[in-house]
Amino acid sequence: MEGARIVVTGANRGIGLAFVQEALARGAAKVYAGVRDTNDITPELAATGAEPVQLEVTSSDDIAAAAAHCSDANVLINNAGLHAGDRLVKASDADAARREMEVNYFGPLATTRAFAPVLAANGGGSIVNVLSVAAIAPTAFMGGYSPAKAAALYLGGIARAELEPDGITVTSLIVGSVDTRMASHVDGNKEDPRTIAVAGFKAMSRGDWTCDTDRMAFESRARLALDPVRYERGLGSCCSSPT
Ligand SMILES: NC(=O)c1ccc[n+]([C@@H]2O[C@H](COP(=O)([O-])OP(=O)(O)OC[C@H]3O[C@@H](n4cnc5c(N)ncnc54)[C@H](OP(=O)(O)O)[C@@H]3O)[C@@H](O)[C@H]2O)c1
Repeated sequence: MEGARIVVTGANRGIGLAFVQEALARGAAKVYAGVRDTNDITPELAATGAEPVQLEVTSSDDIAAAAAHCSDANVLINNAGLHAGDRLVKASDADAARREMEVNYFGPLATTRAFAPVLAANGGGSIVNVLSVAAIAPTAFMGGYSPAKAAALYLGGIARAELEPDGITVTSLIVGSVDTRMASHVDGNKEDPRTIAVAGFKAMSRGDWTCDTDRMAFESRARLALDPVRYERGLGSCCSSPT
């Protein structure tokens, strides 16, 4: 980590903010904090001293400008994410699934395309994608979030193969339940965001292809292996009751 130059998307709060804090604590030389609006920065992010960068991940202009500005970057953390809180087939908002796909899949695809040449020009580097247990199986009652995270998991695998010759590793994080705004409606145990950042950087340093970052992620994978039907029906601690 020492000397790394790191770009984090969705850095204003939650897990993205934790990645910024952990990167600086581990001696990163430079941290670029991607935010949707540089005029709307949380005090917690401002206190880190990271450099805010305009980076709405659905904006091709923002992405191109950020890739040009962060020209010394050798790590990209694709963290920005959206959970619309609707259903999929029975969604009340017909556009929710499209927005989730835009932010959770097309966003990291576009940032990966833009930053891969930057990382390669700097001698190679690492891309870390912050995904979810919702990526590893159809997860009922999470609407379009689960398909979008699954698509991003495939993106990670394909990007890994394509970028290997350029000296770029790609790590997909399978994250359980974390104490952030996104999971404010979720009951039960929630991890500290910093735990995810620590696990993520360790996985990146090992060059892991995927990494289950926390207890709920391990337990979800075990429940899926034991009883895939029950798991897919959302009859577990991570999902709402289907009644
Ligand atoms: N919390 C969990 O339990 C959990 C579990 C598994 C995976 N994850 C994943 O972890 C990542 C971080 O989520 P979180 O829990 O930290 O949620 P969060 O507290 O809601 O933070 C999400 C961050 O992403 C940013 N963001 C949203 N849409 C964006 C866009 N279009 N362009 C750029 N930035 C955008 C938000 O910006 P603003 O601050 O401007 O709103 C915010 O900073 C996501 O990919 C999420 O899917 C979370």
